[in-house]
Amino acid sequence: MTQPIRIERTTNPKPRPKASELGFGKYFTDHMFILDYDAGLGWHDARIVPYQPITLDPAAKVFHYGQTIFEGLKAYRTEEGKIVLFRPDMNMKRLNRSNDRLSIPAVDEALGLEALRQLVQVDQDWIPDAPETSLYVRPFVISTEAALGVSPSLQYKFIIIMSPVGSYYSEGIKPVSIYVESDYVRAVAGGVGHVKTAGNYAAGLKAQEGATAQGCAQVLWLDGVHRKYVEEVGSMNVFFRLGDKIVTPALTGSLLPGITRDSVIHLLRHWGLEVEERLVTIDELVEAQKDGSLKEIFGTGTAAVISPVGSLYWKGEKLTIGNGSTGEVSARVYETMTGIQTGRLEDPFGWRVSV
Ligand code: COI
Repeated sequence: MTQPIRIERTTNPKPRPKASELGFGKYFTDHMFILDYDAGLGWHDARIVPYQPITLDPAAKVFHYGQTIFEGLKAYRTEEGKIVLFRPDMNMKRLNRSNDRLSIPAVDEALGLEALRQLVQVDQDWIPDAPETSLYVRPFVISTEAALGVSPSLQYKFIIIMSPVGSYYSEGIKPVSIYVESDYVRAVAGGVGHVKTAGNYAAGLKAQEGATAQGCAQVLWLDGVHRKYVEEVGSMNVFFRLGDKIVTPALTGSLLPGITRDSVIHLLRHWGLEVEERLVTIDELVEAQKDGSLKEIFGTGTAAVISPVGSLYWKGEKLTIGNGSTGEVSARVYETMTGIQTGRLEDPFGWRVSV
């Protein structure tokens, strides 16, 4: 039996933004969930409270040593008015894998799922219903002990906040350009690239600046050891249609095991397409682009959902993928994934969870 969740409702609800103003992660709902951890007591005091700033000691470990992790998932309102989450159990499992890697005590997954359910219910009026919008849910854990010794914190907060969102990229679902990064690296096996911790994203900002300067939306990372195997795109996993196969980089320990990635692999195989999870070199992609066998590239992620890639920027050259517009498989995956997520289509895999 998980612990009860106390609910304190706001007396001062905020105005809702218009769908056209949403962007990504700019507005936050009226409530948040908080669970505290103290060594000796464990996780305790589960509560949903009005959305508010939190006060932390300047010595809190999260500020100095980055002992923190996060998740991302989305809630939708179906055409029949049901509220659904997409595979939230996978997020809770990954949250605890990230916790484990960062020496953060595990959160009771059943309690986490119940917290997600109750918080989404409390703020259900915030779920936008215009096309390509959803309620993005951001669970995260921070280390809060005020102490500068480098050791696991004795205190933490597990918090869930929520934001009504539109498309992650300003391009919407139009193809984006991707910059292949050859100087900086994101992660190495044995490090933290396979978990969702803040440092992975902070360390990527410098390369992102270079990508933006070349007019690209995201960085395509190469592996940190050989600098030749393609790993993932800034905030997404990546898929290639090479000839009649779909290929995606294998989970070698430095990539994030995306929940959308896993779902897309299932879906493609369900359609009878051949999917290979293997090492892919940038040279193989460049050759395949030149001989015409690289037909499509698309990124997958919770925030971005499915994002077609129209061109790759590599060594000063812009390589157009296919004819530069959304490919046939990318479009079908996008339609089907969003259809399953929003309840517009059958869910043959049982991925939707009613709130
Ligand atoms: C997500 O897709 O939920 C992510 O975590 C990407 C995020 C960094 C925007």
